[in-house]
Amino acid sequence: MPMKRNATMPAGEALASGFYHLAGVSLAGRSCAGLACFAARADAPARWADATREPRVHCLGKCYAGPAVAGVDAEDDLRPHVEVRARHAVLLGNVLRGGARTLAEYLAAGGGRALEAAHALDPAAIVAMVRDSGLRGRGGAGFPTGEKWLLVAAAGGSVKHIVANADEGDPGAFSDRFLMEDDPFRLIEAMVIAARATGASRGHIYLRREYPACARVLEAALAEARQAGWLGAAGLNGFDIELVVGHGSYLCGEETAMLNAIEGRLPQVRLRPPQITERGLYGQPTLVNNVETLCAVPWIIEHGAAAYAALGFSKSRGTKLLSLNSLFCRPGLYEVEFGISLREIVDELGGGLRRGRLQGLMVGGPLAGLVPPSRLDTRLGYEEMHAVHGAVGHGGVIAFADDTSLAAIAAEIFRFGADESCGKCVPCHRGTPQLARMYAGKAAREAGRHDALLRALADTSLCAHGRGLAEFGDSLKANYPDQLAALFRS
Ligand SMILES: Cc1cc2nc3c(=O)[nH]c(=O)nc-3n(C[C@H](O)[C@H](O)[C@H](O)COP(=O)(O)O)c2cc1C
Ligand code: SF4
Repeated sequence: MPMKRNATMPAGEALASGFYHLAGVSLAGRSCAGLACFAARADAPARWADATREPRVHCLGKCYAGPAVAGVDAEDDLRPHVEVRARHAVLLGNVLRGGARTLAEYLAAGGGRALEAAHALDPAAIVAMVRDSGLRGRGGAGFPTGEKWLLVAAAGGSVKHIVANADEGDPGAFSDRFLMEDDPFRLIEAMVIAARATGASRGHIYLRREYPACARVLEAALAEARQAGWLGAAGLNGFDIELVVGHGSYLCGEETAMLNAIEGRLPQVRLRPPQITERGLYGQPTLVNNVETLCAVPWIIEHGAAAYAALGFSKSRGTKLLSLNSLFCRPGLYEVEFGISLREIVDELGGGLRRGRLQGLMVGGPLAGLVPPSRLDTRLGYEEMHAVHGAVGHGGVIAFADDTSLAAIAAEIFRFGADESCGKCVPCHRGTPQLARMYAGKAAREAGRHDALLRALADTSLCAHGRGLAEFGDSLKANYPDQLAALFRS
């Protein structure tokens, strides 16, 4: 199999169709139009104006320095503040130390022990450890990871795949970026362990185009891992990993669209069933996990399921990475245990806002809701966030100050949603731009029409993109009823 496919190589009909925003587009010097940069646009209006040039670049993973720019200035060297606020550094130990980009550095820091332990374990025992740890998917949906591994392990077929979802599309999140850029062997080790547990022989990392430094680091790390016998002919089942670099599309983070993208097909969402654990990549059983999810696995194998499950609270066990945007006094990358309150995140981790008053907190990306200051006592947990019309999502934390109105936030979210729709469902493809225009004040703001569009999105969208946009709209209705009533006439 080819070991690296990048943006300069054709990806079949998808490239030809112009589906991607960034195919053939140079990123150098481009300003970021991600949501965190939108929240910080008053800090550099000219840069933001540049960011709104088409094609827009939605999130360079520099939300701690927004409004950000790619590649050519000093910000490339500007690392975020990194801090662990958990009893154990499950994920950020090496990032905190400044990185372990070579295998020698990784081994010296204690890496590789989990792989050794996994070799001595029965595959079923590995799956059981992951299940008992309580680990849930960090890509957004929070699905129990062990259950997914069990399904792939039990699936028939001679070829199975492990796919690391490294698309990190949620504007506002940069945690996967630093896990890959600073600690690439942790991801590789986790994927080899997943391969042993499920019987997979082929691995793929689907990386977003906007992270060129990650591509360079991963390529070098994969080559080293092959030389060391972790991958390739000398590895288990001949398991090897190819790196596939995208061409700019938020929707490609959705796992079925991503599989189509890897296959070089038009990356639209697939109908389910069949579930991809049975028929995924090339019609074969496939495990898709987020980078952060996978990176927790070596720690679980080394320290035991119970040690991991002892961290966190409620049905949300372990640690979570949070990416705090530049509106905080202390933006950066944090590892926390579930159970921390939103108020602690804002005041203690972030040190409060640099300017203005908090309008709302977006945790977990544009498909999550907006949480008002009155709900800051909510504790971080999947069910707890859902109860206040929010989400853990991927852990991007964007503070919006009161220089950004509610209508402006909503117009930006729906504009982004419309831009990134794959076009398969009418309410998502045609309704989302209408919502964006309403909030931008470019179309009549009628409450009935607004609610009907949200209901159609919620009820008929094929994937969580459209449904998530509806949930965002619902969160405004639930959390900001007076402002919404003032905006929309009945
Ligand atoms: C529109 C959309 C975008 C998504 N983007 C990402 C992404 O960038 N990274 C990611 O890991 N999951 C993303 N997801 C979730 C994936 O579909 C999938 O649930 C996840 O990769 C599974 O891994 P996990 O169980 O480890 O979370 C997205 C979902 C949707 C609907
Ligand atoms: S909801 Fe939107 S993104 Fe998802 S399948 Fe439908 S059109 Fe595509």
